[in-house]
Amino acid sequence: MKAPIEGFSRLTKAQKIEWIAENCTENPKQTKQILKRYWNSDPAVQKLHDEFIENTISNYYLPFAIAPNFYINDEFYAIPMAIEESSVVAAASKAAKFWLYRGGFKTEILGTEKVGQVHFMFGGGTEKLKGFFDKIKQDLIKSTASITKNMEKRGGGITEIELRDKTDAIPNYFQLHCTFETLDAMGANFINSCLEQFAVTLKEKARSYSLFDEKERDIEVVMSILSNYVPNCIVKAEVSCPVEQLNEDNLSPEDFAKKMVQAVQIAKVDPHRAVTHNKGIMNGIDAVVLATGNDFRAVEAGIHAYAAKDGSYSSLTHASVQDGIFRFWIEIPLALGTVGGLTSIHPLVKLALEILQNPTAKELMQIVAVAGLAQNFAALRSLVTTGIQKGHMKMHLMNLLNQMGATEDEKTKLVNYFKDKTVTNASVKEALENHRT
Ligand code: MEV
Repeated sequence: MKAPIEGFSRLTKAQKIEWIAENCTENPKQTKQILKRYWNSDPAVQKLHDEFIENTISNYYLPFAIAPNFYINDEFYAIPMAIEESSVVAAASKAAKFWLYRGGFKTEILGTEKVGQVHFMFGGGTEKLKGFFDKIKQDLIKSTASITKNMEKRGGGITEIELRDKTDAIPNYFQLHCTFETLDAMGANFINSCLEQFAVTLKEKARSYSLFDEKERDIEVVMSILSNYVPNCIVKAEVSCPVEQLNEDNLSPEDFAKKMVQAVQIAKVDPHRAVTHNKGIMNGIDAVVLATGNDFRAVEAGIHAYAAKDGSYSSLTHASVQDGIFRFWIEIPLALGTVGGLTSIHPLVKLALEILQNPTAKELMQIVAVAGLAQNFAALRSLVTTGIQKGHMKMHLMNLLNQMGATEDEKTKLVNYFKDKTVTNASVKEALENHRT
């Protein structure tokens, strides 16, 4: 960038593109062409995307794909995934097919509690604050009546407000730790609106509380915000089958089951492995979360915190062999929504939800957990048998060919050529060169 700019957001879209192209890129003409090539041909759809965020100059595409044949709680699903990594959808589909013939996936919701906090400083004694809190707790709830009315009609709302003494960690620091049931909404706006009202009411009530002295009346609210750590908004997904049904090409069923259990054990005890193990799980989770218009950053943050809940970062999946039965399962926190947010405005998000038979938030939690479990199963299955590079590089072949500027005819020929050969960067380069000469 040549120099900073004042008032970028007030420029028209054309002016923004002009500025970016001229100030930040080598070839302004080409920059403008690329940006415009990714505009939607329907102006109404483009306007929608322009208005999702500020300063939109184009759209950023990700492939939108389907992993079919998921059999979950005796229903079939085709799962939409938005992701750039070549082998993820293929791996999910393979795992889905594997378990389709072995009873499918079973899931269970273990909790749906969402969390938000008002963080504040209070200069007086804890006991006095407790007395005040007990007195005003109902006022806090009542003060949010206009915000909670509709949610309550549908069966949700504020479930609890707790005063937490955090003065051991920071002098004078307390929290209103609040829990919510937000039903099919992810609930961020609902929760944050309630919290900001709690903060106003808390301060107001303190100002007129007769048992407080001058200093105590001045509660200092630092911030009011939901927490993306939701350890009581939990879903469990599981697969299981008799060990003898785990037939692999190069391993006996017993050895395969043993290696799968060992692979999970390693991810439980070694954070270096756990991070990669869980990254593979997130390949599946993020792809569905993104396709269904949910906040993948929130999901990522919450899940990784959960993976470290026992004091050391560990595996999100578990595996066992008992009485001849192989079991493989995952337990994760997921705060998802199927109403609100992008769900009714982004055409592809709407379609993704329709493909999933318009699930409730609870149903979507179960589908997403299954996608994560399937992804981990596929990754470990490759890792303990053939290694991942074989499958991964096969899927990556098209990217390599595109990178090397192969024509359609060359791509067809080389994909065929590599059917029974090892794909590496060098081998593809060499094969393409040979083909061309
Ligand atoms: C690659 O995106 C994900 C894996 O590394 C996961 C794993 O190692 O378990 C294959």
